[in-house]
Amino acid sequence: MATTLVDNIGSLVTNDPAWGGLLGLIPDAAIVVEEERTGSGTADGAQSRSQFQEVVGRVAWVGAATDAPPADRRIDAGGRAVLPGFVESHSHLVFAGDRAEEFAARMAGERYAAGGIRSTLAATRAASDAELSANVSRLLDEYARQGTTTVEIKSGYGQSVADERRSLEVAAGHTPFTTLLAAHVVPPEYAGRADDYVAMVIDEMIPICAPLASWIDVFCEQGAFDADQSRAVLTAGQRAGLGVRVHGNQLHPGPGIQLAVELGAASVDHVCHTDDADIAALAASDTVATLLPAADFSTRNRYPDARRLWDAGVTIALGADCNPGTSYTTSMPFVIALAVRELRLTPDEAVWAATAGGARALGRDEIGVLRVGASADLVFLDAPSHLHLAYRPGVPLVHTVMQAGVLR
Ligand code: NIG
Ligand code: FE
Repeated sequence: MATTLVDNIGSLVTNDPAWGGLLGLIPDAAIVVEEERTGSGTADGAQSRSQFQEVVGRVAWVGAATDAPPADRRIDAGGRAVLPGFVESHSHLVFAGDRAEEFAARMAGERYAAGGIRSTLAATRAASDAELSANVSRLLDEYARQGTTTVEIKSGYGQSVADERRSLEVAAGHTPFTTLLAAHVVPPEYAGRADDYVAMVIDEMIPICAPLASWIDVFCEQGAFDADQSRAVLTAGQRAGLGVRVHGNQLHPGPGIQLAVELGAASVDHVCHTDDADIAALAASDTVATLLPAADFSTRNRYPDARRLWDAGVTIALGADCNPGTSYTTSMPFVIALAVRELRLTPDEAVWAATAGGARALGRDEIGVLRVGASADLVFLDAPSHLHLAYRPGVPLVHTVMQAGVLR
């Protein structure tokens, strides 16, 4: 199969510990990408990409430019920094409408509350599948133009069997990484009857929707679902073969983090309100803490204590959490800048969390890293190093993106 040499890379982030340091940086580097024809039909991550592409590009060689082997064609990186494509492990892209007025009211002093989700619920239920899918395409294109090459997509703005199912069908047309957010908010037809809604989710929604998703998720929060309701939904998802993700401790202290750890969740997301026991439980677990500071920025919420989490040994991922309520952004560079300035991660830690950390949150080892066999997902920056992502906030530094070997 054809090979491509990418050389004249000023500085390469590999996230491969073999090269030393957190980021496995290689100065004056090169990469060889090899096309690979894929099979189809299994649930393996590399294979499931073949739903979307017949030929995928994999990394065949990484190292110093002076040692690079010959290849069929060459791309000159022009001295730019190159890093693995960002891995977004938390997005809500299947929706219609926006909530700009709610945002403006919030900036004028209103508080964000879980109930705002219901207005997106109504707009999403009223939209056609084609409208929903076009909106997903538009937002994925935004993500990619800013360097994100993998995106998990949740349902959650349907909250009926039919609307959750079609939300997942729309999502699955765009990504192999889909999550059934079965309990996001109590829908209006179940007002005052949250337990009845939970029973319907367990008895009807999960059996029908589970085949379309890899994970189950709940919004465990005041005004959404409490610990018992969340546990009931999540364990029903587990019995249906789904992995667990949890929206936990976003707006208030609460049981979400402990519940996620108890159930062996892949990830608990937001994590803005933590006490010593929460941090100790996470540090002793394999559950990733996915931090979403753009949501905290747009809701004037408190930021997570990322410094303490990282120093305690918790695995941290960063996500943009694109959704019309709390975080209508697709910019991982913005998230990295926030994580450095406001969450006090170092630039290296933030870049790791937005790449390798996101991959950990999705349970994958072929993305978020550039080593032999990894997916050829590359971001070329108009900058000499990855440090500029935080150092030059708001500047469109992404020059080129390669997704599974294909230049966009
Ligand atoms: O991740 N917190 C719950 N879910 C979304 C917000 C949903 C909305 O407000 O529409 C989040 O922040
Ligand atoms: Fe979310």
